[in-house]
Amino acid sequence: MILVTGATGYIGSHTLVELINAGHAVLGADNFSNSSPAVLQKLKTIVGKEIPFIELDFCDKEAVEAVFRTHSITSVIHFAAYKSVGESVQEPLKYYHNNLLSLVNLLEACRSFEVHHFVFSSSCTVYGQPDSMKIDESAAIAGQAASPYGNTKKISEQIIIDFSATYPINCALLRYFNPIGSHESGLLGDEPNGIPNNLIPYLTKVVDGELPYLRVFGGDYDTPDGTCIRDYIHVVDLAKAHQLALEKIASGAIKGVEAINLGTGKGSSVLEVIKAFESATGHKVNYQVVERRSGDVTAIYADPNKAAELLGWEAKLGLKEMLSSAWNYQLTKKIKH
Ligand code: UFG
Repeated sequence: MILVTGATGYIGSHTLVELINAGHAVLGADNFSNSSPAVLQKLKTIVGKEIPFIELDFCDKEAVEAVFRTHSITSVIHFAAYKSVGESVQEPLKYYHNNLLSLVNLLEACRSFEVHHFVFSSSCTVYGQPDSMKIDESAAIAGQAASPYGNTKKISEQIIIDFSATYPINCALLRYFNPIGSHESGLLGDEPNGIPNNLIPYLTKVVDGELPYLRVFGGDYDTPDGTCIRDYIHVVDLAKAHQLALEKIASGAIKGVEAINLGTGKGSSVLEVIKAFESATGHKVNYQVVERRSGDVTAIYADPNKAAELLGWEAKLGLKEMLSSAWNYQLTKKIKH
């Protein structure tokens, strides 16, 4: 049975769908700190059956042990973590406490209950301010990440690598670029509590009239149109990569700890995203170019070759599909949620 932490979150919920559809037995777990129990009902609607689930805070060591004691867990996909870059600057200890302690508790439980298969939710933020725009996994990550949140991902990777020297854990450190979009049902999506920080949930709320206008952070970057470049990836493509990573670990094709970029390999500027959204949906985006946001890197996109080699995976869905599915989520949630 695969334990999926952060199961009702944005990427966790999409990954549960892929795992169940591929025939895997799963146990979802979440403490709903940044998601809603209503996601469980939506998951049930999508996969057509009840999702085995447990409400749990992974910082609670005894509760974590109890889950491993009472379920036959053979592998873990660890999504559960705080993820707001801005909040992590304001409350660094909250981020270090939650993101690191939960990981340590899980790894200790893996050791006690002899679980050897692990997939960790990491981020391209571990590259910090990159030297080149197209990044492969060997890029130096010795420098500072741009935020305490980013540091928790770097330190978490290091914890797993150090742990693997004393315990035979086979682990994929999946470094996501910018996941966007939504399941085709429109039932799952990126729904952070409060006003979103990320581009796409903010943009869709602007177009829907919930927020007045989109602030484009900085028009004077050293890029062709002056706005930042990112590698946006459809969350369903990302979810499939988790399933494949776990299957490759289980088959012995991935041994030890492997960092793997998950991106499309294609960079898009903020203005290109806005244009693609308008063309995909027929809706105008009300925006203004404002000051730069501190901590933003100018441009970064994935070299996705290692994911192709190790997982046999590549992103299939393009920017327009990502953006129309994000819009579909914004529209559907009013009707069905
Ligand atoms: N942006 C805007 N306006 C907004 C929000 C974002 O112009 O209202 C711009 C940003 O400046 C950036 C791009 O849109 O150029 C993407 O911003 P996001 O906030 O959506 O994503 P980030 O690239 O900043 O963050 C992502 C992940 C983080 C991770 C970070 C690492 O969400 O978890 O990449 O670079 F830490």
